Order: sequence, then C-alpha cells, then structure tokens
Amino acid sequence: MSNQAKGKLVVLISGGGSNLQSIIDACDTNTVNANIVGVISNKEQAFGLERANNHGIPSFAVDHTQFDSREAFDLKLIETIDALGADYVILAGFMRILTPAFTTHYLGRLLNIHPSLLPLYPGLHTHQRAIDAGDKKAGASIHFVTAELDGGPVILQAQVDIAPDETSDSLAGKVLKKEHLIYPQAINLLCGGKLKLIDNSAVLDGKPLPDAGL
Ligand code: GAR
Repeated sequence: MSNQAKGKLVVLISGGGSNLQSIIDACDTNTVNANIVGVISNKEQAFGLERANNHGIPSFAVDHTQFDSREAFDLKLIETIDALGADYVILAGFMRILTPAFTTHYLGRLLNIHPSLLPLYPGLHTHQRAIDAGDKKAGASIHFVTAELDGGPVILQAQVDIAPDETSDSLAGKVLKKEHLIYPQAINLLCGGKLKLIDNSAVLDGKPLPDAGL
C-alpha cells in the first residue's frame, strides 16, 4: 500500500453504476489509492445512488430537468463537487454533455469511460454502430475529458471480439466486464500523480502516450 495521501474522488453517474461499484471495490481493497467522497447522479432513481448509500458514501441527485440551461446545471454540479473537496472527477456512465466551463474547471482532473475504441463511435449506440459497421473488435476507452465530446486524449483501451451472432446487449455485457478492469487502473495512475494531461496529450511518467493509450 502506498504512503501517498489518498486522492479524493467524486463520481458522476446516470444509471446502474456497475463502473462505480468497481471503483468502490478497488478503493476498498486499496487497488486504487483513493476514497470516493461523493456520488452525484442527474437521475434520482439511478441504482448507482443505492450502491453509494450501501457503502456510506454521500450521494446527491441533481436533476438536470430542474435547470433552465446546461450552464446552470453544470454550475450546480461544480458547486456540489467543490464543496466535497474533490481532487478528481470521474464520469462513470454519466449521460449528460458537459459545458466548456465545467471541462475547463476540472481540466486534467476529469476522466470519462466510453464504450467504444475511440476515436471510433463517439456519442451514443456505440455497440450497435460497431456491429452494423461489420467491425471484428469493439471495446472501451478511458480518456481525459476536454471540451470536445468524447474527444480528449485516450489513456487506456480494452478490446473484445465481436462474435458473428453478437447483439448490442451481448456486446455491452462483454465490454462492461473489461470496463470494470481498466477504469480503476487509470484512476490509480491519475491519483498517484503519474498520469497528467499536458498540452492536450496524456502523459505517463513524463512520456506522451500513443493515440490508443497505454
Ligand atoms: C458504461 O458502458 C459506460 O461506458 C457508458 O455507460 C455505461 C454505464 O454503465 N458510458 C457512456 O456511454 C458515456 N457516454 P454503468 O452505469 O453500469 O457503469
């Protein structure tokens, strides 16, 4: 176990929170040198909030439909995250587009997981798009978040094979299993100070990572 101070994470979710669970578990076992200081969902019913409660992690629902603009919603998020004293903000199935004011505020401290091999298939319905394109492989990417949607530099990717009879659901399940392995790894590198965002590149131990990440 590292003697370094533990990073403080705030995790943003919109749904089931299986990635959140993998991060909770990795923090519990010290696989990630961090504590989750808060979980925020834009949906009150998100099961991920229950996962947080079950682990005694403060949880918050900030319903985006109650705000007049993306800017106003994001300001409320910033206020909530900063009040929790977050060092790092982790998007784990958070299904809202963030404003430049938000991404700039947390630049270099903000990670996302996306269910495709970026730069392929930014946006939604990634698995069906990969199947429709006849791709042989799919996967997930962890990346620094910048103002460009799903466009920030990639840190880590994991691949799975697309079977001939693959459905969007079966592929999502296969990819999720990989997501649970790679997200804690990337978060630990960030918390350990090894991984940085410099001049729009992901840099590990002083060396820029290749486009597909580690
Ligand atoms: C995950 O597959 C994640 O990659 C994806 O949502 C799912 C959330 O699952 N994220 C996005 O599509 C972001 N654009 P989870 O709630 O079980 O972690």
